[in-house]
Amino acid sequence: MSRIRVALLGASGSIGLQAADVIAQHPDQFELVALASGRGGDQHNTLASANPKARSLLAGSADDLRSLVLDTAPDIALIATTGVVGLAATVAALEAGVAVAIANKETIVAGGDVVMRAARAAAERKGSDVLERLRPVDSEHSALWQCLAGESLDRVRSLWLTASGGPLRDATAAEIAAALPATALKHPTWSMGAKITIDSATLVNKGLEAIEAHRLFSVPMEQVKILVHPQSVVHGLVEFVDGSTKAQMGSPDMRGPIGYALGYPVRMAATIPNVDLASHGSLTFAAPDLARFPGLAIALEAGRAAGAAPGALIAADGVAVDRFLAGDFPLGGIPQLLRDAVDQFDSRPAPASVEEVISLHEEVTQFAVQWSGAA
Ligand SMILES: NC(=O)c1ccc[n+]([C@@H]2O[C@H](COP(=O)([O-])OP(=O)(O)OC[C@H]3O[C@@H](n4cnc5c(N)ncnc54)[C@H](OP(=O)(O)O)[C@@H]3O)[C@@H](O)[C@H]2O)c1
Repeated sequence: MSRIRVALLGASGSIGLQAADVIAQHPDQFELVALASGRGGDQHNTLASANPKARSLLAGSADDLRSLVLDTAPDIALIATTGVVGLAATVAALEAGVAVAIANKETIVAGGDVVMRAARAAAERKGSDVLERLRPVDSEHSALWQCLAGESLDRVRSLWLTASGGPLRDATAAEIAAALPATALKHPTWSMGAKITIDSATLVNKGLEAIEAHRLFSVPMEQVKILVHPQSVVHGLVEFVDGSTKAQMGSPDMRGPIGYALGYPVRMAATIPNVDLASHGSLTFAAPDLARFPGLAIALEAGRAAGAAPGALIAADGVAVDRFLAGDFPLGGIPQLLRDAVDQFDSRPAPASVEEVISLHEEVTQFAVQWSGAA
């Protein structure tokens, strides 16, 4: 059987390195044909040396990334870049018949209709399911995808995403607003890149994931719900109309969902340990507190508002997190910036092309860079 040819965008990052690990553990099943990183560094160089046949690209533009995918003609492209630099490559891959494993939330949240249209057209051409063409990698969405296997979406009542609650889960509103990077970067269960770790501390990440789920699974925002589950064992649940609920569990290790997306529809031999329920003893669940985590409330509202609001939200959040990490304001500045950015742009229509997505992203980024409203 021929090996699955993989292009890895964002190779030197947290997801990229874990994907490279999954691929290295299954050399008979996968072949890396392209590797792209930003600054790169030692980890990129090590990967490039271990995969001499793979085309290697550093600090490429959106166009360069698109060309890399088209020129190397992989079977699947794993998009693990941050920001929207991978958007054009994602759409081009779908159009060229390349399956996409999508870790990069910005591409789904900001790219919305543009990406989903390309995925639907690709699925129609292939006679496959949309999610076979555009495969979720985020652990919660992978969980929902797994729970939905063999099910019909019109029999679904709600999709539930779990949240660990982050490092400030039990903090007061005042402590959360005053938190500084050293505290907010200490994620209790997941080891991830800095941006997503801060998004977990504000719970904005969960709002972005709710929008991602709404788009990927074509369900109304109102049907996407959130549960705080500190143990990070259950990643997602699907509630059906007959009163039944299915849950997916796994160790909090991204190599699980990465392996599921790359190998689909075949489950790969374990790269991570199975969950040991007896050792956990009990699993707990609670509703999120939108008053203590206003960023989550703003993100959910932006998802419901649709139009340009999700794109504005995620662009502003990229800058807000950078400015927080640079010491411009404490954690409470992030929801303030998000509120102002969403209010500023939410009356605009949804972008209808890759160019319009990028243009909105740049305009909101500019707004957020200049924003000086932190109280
Ligand atoms: N980490 C997780 O567990 C996790 C879970 C779910 C979803 N996600 C999502 O997955 C995406 C990646 O997250 P991450 O945590 O892996 O981020 P990360 O550790 O910051 O990695 C980002 C990667 O993108 C690369 N990059 C930046 N500009 C690039 C360019 N022009 N061309 C090619 N590569 C470029 C970076 O390269 P350099 O570092 O070399 O500059 C790095 O390899 C995000 O959208 C995140 O929300 C992450």
